[in-house]
Amino acid sequence: MIITVDGPAASGKGTLAKKLAAHYGLPHLDTGLLYRGVGYLMMQSGHALDDAAMAARVAQELDLFKIDQEHLRSDEVGEAASKVAAIPGVRAALLKLQQDFARQPGGAVLDGRDTGTVIAPDADVKLFVTASPEVRAKRRHIELAARRTPVEYCAVISDIKKRDERDSERSIAPLKPAPDAVLLDTTDLDIEAAFRAAIEIVEAPRAGRTRP
Ligand code: DC
Repeated sequence: MIITVDGPAASGKGTLAKKLAAHYGLPHLDTGLLYRGVGYLMMQSGHALDDAAMAARVAQELDLFKIDQEHLRSDEVGEAASKVAAIPGVRAALLKLQQDFARQPGGAVLDGRDTGTVIAPDADVKLFVTASPEVRAKRRHIELAARRTPVEYCAVISDIKKRDERDSERSIAPLKPAPDAVLLDTTDLDIEAAFRAAIEIVEAPRAGRTRP
């Protein structure tokens, strides 16, 4: 079974995807980490984030195992990832790896922005996870404080809105629900309630129900 989980920054899609993968015993790929890896390496080497040729080369040679994952979690790297992700050569370089991951025997869970639209359009279940920008910013704000990198709430929400706009309005593989994706709004749900709702969506056809 292939499950895709797409959605904007801090919507809860990553946590949900991880929980779904554990529940169904499937491997999980956080596709955002690939773009974060490229953004991080571009920043590290001092290249401009709009240097398309260099970013594509970095993507072609990317080895995530060589990067300490802790370096990839910051909002600064998220912002860089969002910028390099709009470069067609970067997306092309990362495409096959993601498609191969999705098509491995037994299936997989992938989360990101275009996993249901571009990477695995034939997925068995597609979730599109959303939440209001205010709630997403609140969650991110708490997460950053826990990691001892306190940032003003207004800076967090402004970054989230900027990132939403860039990811949704780029011409290649923009953030949008696949036509057959099921929308899951987690604005008023905690993680356990969101997980129960996601399981309901996955299980609906098996129980003889159509997906909402
Ligand atoms: O999910 P995330 O916050 O880790 O993603 C970081 C950025 O990477 C996001 O702002 C846009 C980009 N991205 C993408 O373009 N396509 C994906 N499938 C995953 C992430």
